Amino acid sequence: MARLGTNCLLALLLFTLIVDIAQAQGNRGNGNNGYGFGDSGGGKGDPIMTSFDGRSFEFFGQVGAYYNVISEKQHQMSMKLKLGQMWDHNGTYMEGLGFRYQDHKIIIELGADDNMHVYLDGKRLEMAVGENEQEHIMGLESGELMLLWQLNRPDAGEAVEITTDLLSVVVFLTPAGTRDEGGAIQPAYLNFDAALLGPPAHGLKGIIGEGYESLAEGRAAAEADDFKFHGEEEEFRMDGYFATAHTHNAFGVAHAGGAASRVRRLIESRVAFPLRGSAGRAFSAATLPVLAGSDALGRKGGI
Ligand SMILES: *[C@@H]1O[C@H](CO)[C@@H](O)[C@H](O)[C@H]1NC(C)=O
Repeated sequence: MARLGTNCLLALLLFTLIVDIAQAQGNRGNGNNGYGFGDSGGGKGDPIMTSFDGRSFEFFGQVGAYYNVISEKQHQMSMKLKLGQMWDHNGTYMEGLGFRYQDHKIIIELGADDNMHVYLDGKRLEMAVGENEQEHIMGLESGELMLLWQLNRPDAGEAVEITTDLLSVVVFLTPAGTRDEGGAIQPAYLNFDAALLGPPAHGLKGIIGEGYESLAEGRAAAEADDFKFHGEEEEFRMDGYFATAHTHNAFGVAHAGGAASRVRRLIESRVAFPLRGSAGRAFSAATLPVLAGSDALGRKGGI
């Protein structure tokens, strides 16, 4: 009897969590509301971020500072911010993005020419005259890293796609010349759209990474959708793209926060991957799978 009661309770708990996950993910289907850099192409300043639990929020940050976006035992993704002068206030835009997978490091930065400068393991990649895309695939002892740089990606313009066994990230450029709500002309800036391809074996941290932890632990429901970042910005600040001394680092750390509890595994088995996170302007909506209602539920089998 007691055993039956526990199972019923667990089933009810799971049901509630799954509905929450479905709702959190379903929010993405509502057009560009809340992304800030929506259809108008205008900017509000300050990257609008969406974490892996579907929550969107404004992240302010300091001009010139680096912040950790995703951190996991073998992955690290960070951003560098620059000044954005709006018609009525100063904000920040993403100027650079660093991505590390195992021992390999990629940096994508806006150059003085407002184009993307792409570095792979410290070496700047160059497009030859007439070339408009290049692909680099690195087979590692375990896993693979792919980098695809395109000058004219149909859904995103100039873009770099980075893919590992865990993450697929598209970093894309918004050229200078868009206008904010007050008509002030904005500089070029970077955006990204990240897909978490499956459950990470170790903990996930970082500004959008930790959203996954809330989801996997069933905390998503408790957080109000207030468009605010709930962490301490300074605890995500780094000394450079690949620094690991900040409070919420998980790079090189086994099982950082990723306790493999029974309830967590049950929840993870019901999450439909990929989960998406993003920063900046909304990625071309046509390319995003719209997860709504039962589509957001896992299809990997029962409880
Ligand atoms: C925005 O930043 C610029 C450059 O630092 C400065 O000159 C300007 O006064 C700032 N504007 C506001 C509204 O703070």
